[in-house]
Amino acid sequence: MSRKPLIAGNWKMNTSIAEAEHLAQAIVRASADLQNREVMIAPPYISLAAVADILADSEVILAAQNICWAEKGAFTGEISPPMLKDIGCRMAIVGHSERRHLFGENDAMINKRISGAMEHGIIPVFCIGETLAEREADNTMKILEDQVRHGLKDISITDAGSIVIAYEPVWAIGTGKTATTKQVQEVHHFLRNLMERLYEKNIASEIRILYGGSVNATNVDELMAQPDVDGALVGGAALDAGSFERIINFQ
Ligand code: 13P
Repeated sequence: MSRKPLIAGNWKMNTSIAEAEHLAQAIVRASADLQNREVMIAPPYISLAAVADILADSEVILAAQNICWAEKGAFTGEISPPMLKDIGCRMAIVGHSERRHLFGENDAMINKRISGAMEHGIIPVFCIGETLAEREADNTMKILEDQVRHGLKDISITDAGSIVIAYEPVWAIGTGKTATTKQVQEVHHFLRNLMERLYEKNIASEIRILYGGSVNATNVDELMAQPDVDGALVGGAALDAGSFERIINFQ
């Protein structure tokens, strides 16, 4: 079993095109000699083309922050898998908590986005996470299991292993409050077992499970040292080249 760690930067609704170019250049320089780990960045849609040019000769993976299930048609405001492939995206974030909570995306929609991405060979970074109220009511594992079961409904065993799951507790996003390493490991272990129940042992041991929620240069090493943590999905700290460089160089 060897799961290559993945450090992913989600830039959310930040950066002008010029700022995105600058940040991408710094990340390309910082990741030039990295071994045994992958780096992904998800700039805003309007910067994808400019960033794709900068990443062209590097190993850094370009990703979109969302993806539509349909190839084309009357879907105002959406971007299709072929469009994202055309511009050079190899991955797409799906089901981010901000999409779920601020824009009303539900499990059924997220499932369609995951299927659409897989059909076109784009790897989804499938985000799940419980709210603070759900955690305090001791419902974390049930909520996560429901999100995984619905999100991966009808996803074949052939596709399941290449999906990336990102566990992002809603209460830890942008709050400076990281889940404890014990909480993170406990959830990741549960998710890996769930993948074994839903698919099979090989899938469970292949699938990469990232943690997201206030990951920074100071806490990344301890998080990455957990046996079931295969990477990080980083928001705020991914916007600062120095911090992100330190994060991709986790020990
Ligand atoms: P922060 O790292 O800013 O908490 O954001 C996490 C996140 O939502 C990444 O997708």
